[in-house]
Amino acid sequence: MSAFVRDQWYVAAYSREVGRELLGRTILGEPIVFYRTEQGEAIGLADRCVHRRFPLSESRLDGDNIVCGYHGFTYDQGGSCVFVPGQQRIPRTARVASYPVVEQDSFVWVWIGDRAKADPTTIPRAPWLADPNYTTVCGMEPLNARYMLLVDNLMDLSHETYLHGGYIGTPEVAETPIQTEVDEDSGTVYVSRHMDDAACPPFYAKSTGIEGRITRWQDIEYHPPCLYVLHSRIAPQGVYPPAEGPDDQAFHVEVVYGITPSTENTTYDFWAVARDFALDDAQVSDFLQSNNHTVVMQDVTALNLLEQVIATEADGYQELSINIDTGGLAARRILKRMAERSRPEGAVTS
Ligand code: FES
Ligand SMILES: [Fe+2]
Repeated sequence: MSAFVRDQWYVAAYSREVGRELLGRTILGEPIVFYRTEQGEAIGLADRCVHRRFPLSESRLDGDNIVCGYHGFTYDQGGSCVFVPGQQRIPRTARVASYPVVEQDSFVWVWIGDRAKADPTTIPRAPWLADPNYTTVCGMEPLNARYMLLVDNLMDLSHETYLHGGYIGTPEVAETPIQTEVDEDSGTVYVSRHMDDAACPPFYAKSTGIEGRITRWQDIEYHPPCLYVLHSRIAPQGVYPPAEGPDDQAFHVEVVYGITPSTENTTYDFWAVARDFALDDAQVSDFLQSNNHTVVMQDVTALNLLEQVIATEADGYQELSINIDTGGLAARRILKRMAERSRPEGAVTS
C-alpha cells in the first residue's frame, strides 16, 4: 500500500531553481517539468510527451512553449499542444496535464491530487525564509530512502547526540525528556525539548559567539505531510524570554524542512536554516551552510542505510519504540490517516 498522501501541496523546488532552464522533478511518482514564463510565472506540466513519452524536461523552450526534443510536438504553458509535425490537425487529446503551482516563502509549491481541491490558502507557511529580518542558508539533498524515514528522523532529535556529535549534538539532547502534543483538527504534531543548562555545540557556539553553557529550546512543529519547522532558541544559560517585549537576549534559528516524496523509496530533502542574528555576516552564513550540509549528509547516509536494511529484511520485523518516539509515532498515525483519506476512489487498499 502506498504511504503517499495526495491532495496536498508539496515543495517542488526553491524559487531560484525554476527559471528559463527546464527542471524535471518526480513528485509522488508523477514526473513534472517546471519552468518560468518570460513574464516570470512558474509553470508545472506533466513531464511526458503524449506522443512517445519523451521527457519534456529534456527538451527546449521556445518562448513560453516547450518543443519536444524527439519529434517536435509543442505545448503551451497550459499543456495544450499547439503544433504537431507533418499535419495541420492537432489531435484533440494532444495535451499534457498542468499542475497548480504557487510560489511562497522562497519555495515553489505544487499540488498533487485532484486539482479541483487545490486551495493555496492551505499551504503551510515558513515566512522566515523570505523575511529581511532573517538570513537563510539552504539546500536540497536527494534521499534514497522513503519519506517516512525522514519524518521519523526529524521528529526525534535525540539522535543529534549520537549521529551529529561534534556538530549539533551534545549529551543533554538525548538526556532531556520531550513533550508531545497533537492538534487532531489540523493534524499538526508538536514536540518540545527545553534544556535549561546544556553544553553549546559548535554549530551554535561558532555562529552566535556564546561562550559557556546555554539554555537551549527545541520546539518542533510538523505540518504533515510536507513541512517541518524546528524553532530553535539559544541563549546564555539562565536567560529566558522576558514577560513582555522582544526576546532579544536570545538567538533564534528556524530550521525548515520540505519533505517531498519522489518515489516510494526516494525523497527530496529540502533544508533551510534561517537566523535572526549576524544577518550580514558572510562568514557566519558560510559556516552554517557547510556545517548544516554536513549534518544533513550524516542523516542522508543513515537513512539511505536504513532503506537498504528494510529492503532486505524478512516480513514482520517488529520495531521497539520508547518515550523519545512519541512524536514520530504521532506523525505516522496522522500520515496513515491522511493517506487513507486521500486515496483515489477505486484504488487498491491492500
Ligand atoms: S515523443 Fe515528443 S514529439 Fe515524439
Ligand atoms: Fe539529524
